[in-house]
Amino acid sequence: MSRIQIAGGIPLKGEVRIQGSKNAALPLMAASVLHQGKTILHNCPDILDVEYMSEILRELGCTVLRRSDTLVIDAANLCRYRITETYATRLRASVILLGSLLGRKGQVEIPYPGGCSIGTRPIDLHIRALEQLGAITETRENRIFLSSKRLSGAEIQFPFPSVGATENGILAAVLAEGDTKLCGCATEPEIGELCAFLRQKGAQIEVDGGNVTIHGRARLQDSEYTLMPDRIVAGTYLCAAAGTRGNVVLRNAVPEHLLAPIEILKKTGALIETGEDWIQIDGTAAEHSVEYMETAPYPGFPTDLQSQLMAVLTEAEGISIIRENVFDSRFQTAEELKKMGAEIRTEHGMAQIAGPAKLQGAEVISRDLRGGAALVIAGLMASGTTVVDGCHLIDRGYVNICRDLKSLGAGIVRS
Ligand code: UD1
Repeated sequence: MSRIQIAGGIPLKGEVRIQGSKNAALPLMAASVLHQGKTILHNCPDILDVEYMSEILRELGCTVLRRSDTLVIDAANLCRYRITETYATRLRASVILLGSLLGRKGQVEIPYPGGCSIGTRPIDLHIRALEQLGAITETRENRIFLSSKRLSGAEIQFPFPSVGATENGILAAVLAEGDTKLCGCATEPEIGELCAFLRQKGAQIEVDGGNVTIHGRARLQDSEYTLMPDRIVAGTYLCAAAGTRGNVVLRNAVPEHLLAPIEILKKTGALIETGEDWIQIDGTAAEHSVEYMETAPYPGFPTDLQSQLMAVLTEAEGISIIRENVFDSRFQTAEELKKMGAEIRTEHGMAQIAGPAKLQGAEVISRDLRGGAALVIAGLMASGTTVVDGCHLIDRGYVNICRDLKSLGAGIVRS
């Protein structure tokens, strides 16, 4: 079943608990293979991407068990280094197994990764970093093979703060001989989470802004870790509250991870208050356009919330401009929003949204994970009934978006 049906026009009201972070869970799962033993992850979201990654780990010889929100990974018997097409092509994050498998097995073979169709997603920065640590690369048809007799520490400068390349650099350096200094790293909270997790496993890592220093170690230890809340899911629900002019409290959220989205939503007229682990948004007056905003690596506005913000801005008064700086084809959702009556022009990485449009329910198709969530938000804002097709993509990142929104009063069902 991959359709969501929404009866729009109801302001969201109430409280919702934010799930564990997808983009933290995946690298931590990849990191678990560095250790010949057990890793226990609490608050691990039960989503498709985590399921795909679990299947990949099983293919490699690991045991992966889920008990409610806890994932138990035992990598003692990991025996393979080749990742097959079956799941790897569905999951972009399969690429972060390059660093950890290279560290553990001295070799890794992987198909070019899949994931969302949101633009060109090269992996040159990953490969270059691993080569600087001593890996040798071969490309065989549509597969990449990396090997190394012994990885050794190096000083690596990333020309762009790629999240995945930073993760691969860290993962490969943990068991390498000697010290590694990574400069120009991504500073997303998920990188901090990976380092905290690895430290608990016995790795020696220091983080100083965009610089990460890793002192290579021979072995790691069993560990138990609780994953941080998902900042993109939290940001999605903030947008849903703003778009429906609702009033919502997010529990188990980290306001500090959402400073840029909170600032932009305040510009629309939303009132937002925060505590240590909660965010309250009153979207009653979230009716103003945002003159100009752009996506950027953290701490900038996340590209993963761009589509959801676009949905909100369709009904805002005035012209809004969004510049997408991270992924080149991330405006595909605009075409679907236009079917609902939105006035959007996209050109050269910029979207111009002319509001206020009055969104009308329509049949639309989710083309990527976050774009799908944006269409759900538009459906909640629109008058009449909206059907969002292709919702298996939304399941990649949201544990149960219908349950969460329904608990806030939305008229939403999976059909
Ligand atoms: C991660 C997130 C994704 C998010 C993105 C940016 C995970 C599993 N996914 O993806 O949700 O949208 O960060 O915040 O954590 N690039 C290169 N060469 C490379 C690597 C990247 O040119 O070798 C470019 C990409 O094409 C893109 C930009 O760098 O334009 C950002 O990519 P990156 O930060 O690597 O994102 P991901 O790790 O793929």
